[in-house]
Amino acid sequence: MDRIIVEGGRTLSGEVQVSGAKNAALPILAASLLVDGWNTFYNVPELQDINTIGLLLEHLGAKVEKDGHTIKVDASGLCETEAPYDLVRRMRASVLVLGPLTARLKKARVSLPGGCAIGARPIDQHLRGLEMLGATVELSHGYVEVQAEKLRGADIYLDTPTVTGTENLMMAACLAEGVTILRNVAREPEIVALADLLNRMGGKVEGAGSPVLTITGVEALNPVEFSIIPDRIEAGTFMVAAALTEGNVLVKDAVPAHLQALISKLRLAGATVTEEHNGIRVQGKRPICSVDVKTLPHPGFPTDMQAQFMVLMTTAKGLSVIAETIFENRFIHVSELVRMGANISISQNSAVIRGVKHLSAAPVMATDLRASASLILAGLIAQGSTEIHRVYHIDRGYESIEQKFSQLGAAVRRVK
Ligand code: EPU
Repeated sequence: MDRIIVEGGRTLSGEVQVSGAKNAALPILAASLLVDGWNTFYNVPELQDINTIGLLLEHLGAKVEKDGHTIKVDASGLCETEAPYDLVRRMRASVLVLGPLTARLKKARVSLPGGCAIGARPIDQHLRGLEMLGATVELSHGYVEVQAEKLRGADIYLDTPTVTGTENLMMAACLAEGVTILRNVAREPEIVALADLLNRMGGKVEGAGSPVLTITGVEALNPVEFSIIPDRIEAGTFMVAAALTEGNVLVKDAVPAHLQALISKLRLAGATVTEEHNGIRVQGKRPICSVDVKTLPHPGFPTDMQAQFMVLMTTAKGLSVIAETIFENRFIHVSELVRMGANISISQNSAVIRGVKHLSAAPVMATDLRASASLILAGLIAQGSTEIHRVYHIDRGYESIEQKFSQLGAAVRRVK
């Protein structure tokens, strides 16, 4: 199995190009199931999770052609209604085919994703929403089975602003009869991107980016060409890396409007963050000031940046508290950071970080995607050579991560 080796102590400088957003590309590729004919998607990141959704779309009967960062999908041959356990267990986001399959084939059988390292992650809001649109939902043998004679617009309040739940219901509602109002929805930039795609396809989605979406159903949608937005979490990871190493990095194509909470916290930590015409520049300086953070749905501080920001706080001056309110178990990286000399204690959903002088390299284990990224960041400032195992987690969501870090002057390499 591959390992990533990071030699600590280098200052990062230069420019790094952000790839297309994984979490925008996944629902957008799933939405291609809503139309007949070839869709062309540009700026799709080359990642394991993207390969997995490609396999799933093919399994369902779609044709998928990949050429670098361009993916074409034609779902004219959509015929299969089942998303099998083998694909869903590889990637929970496979559940994103539930909405499109129900809308197109009036039937879907999708393996229940189950929990993962970061939490139980139920999909009750996806299912209740589909029921309110007129579907029947049954659970049987580990699969959720959805059937609908016809989908009809409804007024749906989500108990929690779930990202993929909002996306599933948006896609289903586009082909439902009449008007659907979705309340307390997710407001992430990826939701806005999906709404842009659906509208480009001829759908009628209003309110994306606000807590209420109004979707007027249409008879059919058309294939389109569409470009994936830049990945704000990848961008944020490089921004923290710059602050952490007293670096000076231009994160190209990072969108300031997508990253306001992080920008604000980085500035409080003492970094200089400048919006430039083609991205965001971060200049770090020590001492790093300690800052408290609480993860929240967008526009709050993203849970997907919590582990990386925690690394910044490990060598800050003083004490910081990071509260995780989205996932109940998203502190798995803490024990690995402690092995590297960090002083962190956990109390319920909060981590208390007391800044230490330095971290020291150690062999560590990647446990989930963002936790893995945090271990690379820790390796950048640790004394010695950090060896990260189980890096397949990183490959699910960060494109060419070692090349991008190396280009900035870091000593990060992969050992096969
Ligand atoms: N939740 C429910 N019921 C539901 C759905 C969600 O209780 O029906 C709860 C979850 O258990 C969790 C909270 O609501 O406590 C938020 O979960 P959400 O559904 O928003 O998460 P998701 O849609 O499964 C997406 C991203 C995650 C990201 C979260 C939160 C994709 C493909 N995944 O997951 O990304 O952490 O939103 O922003 O968009 C990652 O990229 O590393 C990643 C985990």
